Amino acid sequence: MLDRVEIRENADRQCGDDEHDCVADDLLTQQIVSVVLPSPGLGYDTPLSRAMTDYQLAFKPAIGLYGQHDPSAVLFDDGTPVFGVEEERYTREKHATDTFPEHAIRACLDHRNLTLSDLDRIFLPYEPQLRGKIASHYVSDAIRAPGVGRKLSALEETLVTQVRSRFVPTRQIENRLESIGSPVPPVETISHHRCHAASAFHPSGFDEGVVLTLDAKGEYDSTVVWRGDEDGLTRAYTYEHPNSLGLFFAVVTEYLGYRMFNGEGKVMGLAPYGEDNPEIESVLRDLIDTGTDYDVTDLTKRWGTGHGVEILEGEFGRPRNETPGDFDQWEKDLAHTAQKLLEETVVDIAETAVDQLNTANVALAGGVALNCKLNKCVRESPHVDDVFVQPVANDAGLALGAGWAGQPPSAVDRQTDVYLGPEYETEEIRSTLETHAAR
Ligand SMILES: [Fe+2]
Repeated sequence: MLDRVEIRENADRQCGDDEHDCVADDLLTQQIVSVVLPSPGLGYDTPLSRAMTDYQLAFKPAIGLYGQHDPSAVLFDDGTPVFGVEEERYTREKHATDTFPEHAIRACLDHRNLTLSDLDRIFLPYEPQLRGKIASHYVSDAIRAPGVGRKLSALEETLVTQVRSRFVPTRQIENRLESIGSPVPPVETISHHRCHAASAFHPSGFDEGVVLTLDAKGEYDSTVVWRGDEDGLTRAYTYEHPNSLGLFFAVVTEYLGYRMFNGEGKVMGLAPYGEDNPEIESVLRDLIDTGTDYDVTDLTKRWGTGHGVEILEGEFGRPRNETPGDFDQWEKDLAHTAQKLLEETVVDIAETAVDQLNTANVALAGGVALNCKLNKCVRESPHVDDVFVQPVANDAGLALGAGWAGQPPSAVDRQTDVYLGPEYETEEIRSTLETHAAR
């Protein structure tokens, strides 16, 4: 029986780099294997049981080639998550942007009194080499930077990033891990959307289903339609960056005065206070196409939201709102309309996928799947039988998916809660509340 390293190497031989993640992961799904179970009666904290147990750590770094926000870590014991936490819970900085999850990693290790050398493997939820698929987009984005100096700087950064992605994709992460302990166990990278998809399908309890991963951007992909079944996940359709529903909603979020990747839930909450507004809807429909063949790139073709906000300011003849939380009826109507077009698009993608992939279960993940009003619309579609949403649908949930992605879905228990984090005694909670005079 092949072990994971052999499987990965065989996959590398069987495919070009562009197909690296799909073929390798398919092989992993089909052939992965066995774990050595601890002997009954042995405690997990003894050196003997530790040596006989297959521990893996999955984490979302949020530095360098591995995204910018929501770092987290999850410890797996024989493929089952036993502890997981977001870095922001320790740093107390929301989303812990541009942060390596050292606290979360150390908490995972401490949970079972482990060191890095006790781990069988580390999983990262990005496949940096896949960035090369849209290298031309990164270059053209850099060329558009204002001024010669910034243009050259952006081009240099883009080139360096492409080289690092291709030739030393995990070096920065391994360097950071060495400050926690050594030797660093083998590090395996798995594509971003595959991890989102596994985080939704594997714990869904579905025998088969459509999986929608709805995001701002993975390595090159923004929305992916998958088919999940007992053999694992098969990518059915990809909407490449910058055709991104996450960025579309982020542009509206910034235009209404909130921060992207942070205030989207507030825009969703504002939407019910608005009404249908034909003028707003007409302008937005001229800017974007909705439905299965959606196209939002007029607003999202440059990374970030600045370009899209400028377009909205020009088209609507209104500046960006500078007083978030203080909205007039027009702004409420805009939130209502943006939410309406998002729902219209995702429901159409879901219904089309249900019909084409011949399964009526739908699992959802990716940051856009935090939009619970949208999820309700999918659930209420007459084409859909059942829906499962990964509770940690945003990037913090990637660590869960990275740990599950190599397992057969049937090996993963149905997820019924998210209580994987630190525990506190009642007295400890009471004492902390009294110390801070909280009532
Ligand atoms: Fe993501």
